[in-house]
Amino acid sequence: MIEGMVITIDGPAASGKSTVARLLAYEMGLQLIDSGAMYRAVTLLALEQGVDISDTQRLVSIAKFVGNNLRARMEEGARVKIFIDDRDITEEIRGAAVGKFVSPVSAIPEVRIQMVEAQRSIAKGGGVIAEGRDMGSTVFPDASLKIFLNAAEEERVRRRYVELLEKGKKVSIDDVKKEIEIRDFIDSSRSASPLRIPDGAIVIDTTDMSVEEVIFSIKDLITGICHT
Ligand code: CDP
Repeated sequence: MIEGMVITIDGPAASGKSTVARLLAYEMGLQLIDSGAMYRAVTLLALEQGVDISDTQRLVSIAKFVGNNLRARMEEGARVKIFIDDRDITEEIRGAAVGKFVSPVSAIPEVRIQMVEAQRSIAKGGGVIAEGRDMGSTVFPDASLKIFLNAAEEERVRRRYVELLEKGKKVSIDDVKKEIEIRDFIDSSRSASPLRIPDGAIVIDTTDMSVEEVIFSIKDLITGICHT
């Protein structure tokens, strides 16, 4: 039964969505849709090509290209690598420049249309865990299970700061806080598919939970729907 399911995990920046979705997909043999990586890839290519944020036409053509050519490869140990054709962009899409521009790019409705089309096409056969901001609200409103992960802002900032330090990035906690606050603000206040708790979603506050605990409770919910 799990093979046909679409499970959505939405939430604000650094709420733990990516880690949890990645591990669940790996353990359960489901396909992962990391929609944030798709928006980040569009932003990376736009920056590289010097495309202005007001140039909707060029941004849409980059979004189309990303929709057709982005691949996520699940590797040993639940590590996910993101490719555009043969180019590995896993690290670059997490860089500071992309972090600064990804929310303004993602707020453009025409860019979202392209991404939503690509996400639905990946999920055609089911057996998918989709994580992002609008997975349960807009892209897969009929998902079998919708989760909304949240955590106190201070904890989300701490997690992202530790993650960046572990990757050897030199950042200040104030800069991390600023980026998260700005992105959350833009993502929640945009008119196209704003970050919201989707109808029918189960909210999990992960502030005081370990990754293992979050995974355990989601697996419990999956088992519950498999038996109904
Ligand atoms: O990992 P983190 O939560 O920091 O970010 P992400 O999931 O990689 O998403 C990066 C950005 O992409 C978000 O801040 C949103 O602006 C945008 N995004 C979106 O608009 N819709 C989605 N479904 C996923 C991401």
